[in-house]
Amino acid sequence: SGAITLDPGYKNTGACESAITFLDGEEGILRYRGYSIEELAEKADFLEVAYLLIFGELPNASQLQKFNTDILDQSIVNEDMKTVLKGFPETAHPMGVLSSLTSALTAFNPKSVNVDSEEDMYRAIVKILAKFPVLAAWTLRKKNGQTLYNKDTNLGYVESLLKMMFQDDNPKRNYKQNKVVVNALDKLLILHADHEQNCSTSTVRIVGSSHAGLFASISAGVSALWGPLHGGANQAVIEMLEEIKADGGDTSKFIEKAKDKDDPFRLMGFGHRVYKNFDPRAKIIKKAADEVLGQLGVDDPILEIAKGLEKAALEDQYFIDRKLYPNVDFYSGIIYRAMGIPTEMFTVMFAVGRLPGWIAQWREMRLNKEPIGRPRQVYIGETKRSFKSIENR
Ligand code: CMC
Repeated sequence: SGAITLDPGYKNTGACESAITFLDGEEGILRYRGYSIEELAEKADFLEVAYLLIFGELPNASQLQKFNTDILDQSIVNEDMKTVLKGFPETAHPMGVLSSLTSALTAFNPKSVNVDSEEDMYRAIVKILAKFPVLAAWTLRKKNGQTLYNKDTNLGYVESLLKMMFQDDNPKRNYKQNKVVVNALDKLLILHADHEQNCSTSTVRIVGSSHAGLFASISAGVSALWGPLHGGANQAVIEMLEEIKADGGDTSKFIEKAKDKDDPFRLMGFGHRVYKNFDPRAKIIKKAADEVLGQLGVDDPILEIAKGLEKAALEDQYFIDRKLYPNVDFYSGIIYRAMGIPTEMFTVMFAVGRLPGWIAQWREMRLNKEPIGRPRQVYIGETKRSFKSIENR
């Protein structure tokens, strides 16, 4: 099969046509369905953006209300899912728990596996949008050994997520007293909502291309997102900044480490496969970090360390030559932390944000009747040889 072109990491291979997200890495442009990320982050709310990504247009008031009601109608998670959750040790990483619970949803909703019509698809979409934030909140509550709550159906999507996470907790984190927290999380989720054919989205599309159900595809997406080169970077950034702080705050040692090719350490939250000028999401998040910490009266020394690290890296020839800039994960963790979200939960928050994107891409893939994803390879192993009996090996 001589015609096969090798492209490890698919750096130059388009896997599909898509009408969802436009990304220009040279110019730092990101648009969902034609709307700029800057404008959406400023003016839209997360549920509207979810609708836009999935169905292609901003909803009018009645469409949005119906969408919201359909989601609320599905927000109860089967009680037996709590038994599944209780079986995990408290030390379990929330991303492992979230991906397992998402997969377990298929067992409790067997009909959602077969999606042969647009109506079936809609039902599955609404179900996962409804239940996923409940599962996300439960992973946190379980870790803390706290009561598991259902969704408060009188609250908005983001507000009810915060309530499920922090109910009867420290009042400082309380959703009710904190519009700042609700608005900031809404904005963060919008910024994470889609990013065309990234690792987890490609995973969702490829799993879905075998006609495995939506929940199974999303569960695989959660697993892909977990890795530190992808969504797991938001946790890794904070751990790195903490390490710099504990080390006395000198960033230059870490810059040198990141440049050393014999050292596996990389500057977490830096670099991107597509953005080679700046990541527009990082710009918005950096500004939001200043605002949110100011509004909440949080003085976090690692924000200054992050800014110092960014400045030092941007002035360093290694980073200049390779066009490495802060990405979406660089400042997001500092905001999550100011909201009282534990570090291990950061990637779960990313997953809640990315859910509409995964759904939109999965739906597009199914509606376009795309063939099963099945890359080829260039074989470099042994040529034909004869079996050796065990005593001759
Ligand atoms: N620190 C130090 N060197 C880096 C970094 C970094 N963060 N990122 C890339 N490089 C170097 C890399 O060593 C290579 O150098 P050379 O040409 O000398 O071999 C060059 O830059 C190109 O990097 P690459 O690994 O070939 O680029 P890629 O497109 O395969 O990887 C990336 C992109 C995001 C995985 C990578 O930049 C990285 O590992 N960054 C740190 C992890 C991170 O922040 N991930 C979050 C990505 S953004 C959103 C998300 O998905 O969550």
